[in-house]
Amino acid sequence: MESIKVRDKEFEVYLKDSDIQQRVATIAEEINKEYKSKNPLFIGILNGSFMFASDLMKTVNIPSEIAFIRMSSYKGMSSSGAAKQVLGLQENVFGRHLILIEDIIDTGITMAQVINFFQERGPKSIKVATLLLKPEKLEKNLKLDFVGFEIPEKFVVGYGLDYDGHGRNLKDIYQLKGE
Ligand code: IMP
Ligand code: MG
Repeated sequence: MESIKVRDKEFEVYLKDSDIQQRVATIAEEINKEYKSKNPLFIGILNGSFMFASDLMKTVNIPSEIAFIRMSSYKGMSSSGAAKQVLGLQENVFGRHLILIEDIIDTGITMAQVINFFQERGPKSIKVATLLLKPEKLEKNLKLDFVGFEIPEKFVVGYGLDYDGHGRNLKDIYQLKGE
């Protein structure tokens, strides 16, 4: 098993580039069918979704647009630090069919906040495309429409996902070794 080091930790290959590509293309084809005359607006959530969004869009062949947002830690009165703000939206989403693109959904807290943010702005519909889902830790009741792979609770890096800011450039997805 090919293993690599990212910062201070050892990782081993978990999902190969070719399997990821194949799954991403399949999701894009489903979207092509479902959104044929809907002119969807894809919204990628940075930084993690950049590779997934990029590969997905290469197989999307219907009229559509893409924009990116990022989440910021909200330095408010809350000590939990859980509340985040959506930054960077320039597009008018009113009346649009939105497809949110995320790299991974763990507890679902981040995605629930993103969905709330968009729901308040009157889109015609919102669906979620996430490359990875850790179903064991999901605590929000989210409807996830396009899921690439369901994975166990172990930490992963690569294909946009980071460990301490590193490893996003890896083309395969790696899992933390031994644990
Ligand atoms: P959630 O709010 O718990 O769903 O967390 C989602 C965010 O946590 C993702 O957008 C990632 O930034 C991060 N995350 C969760 N699990 C992993 C992982 O295994 N590797 C890298 N980042 C992760
Ligand atoms: Mg993320």
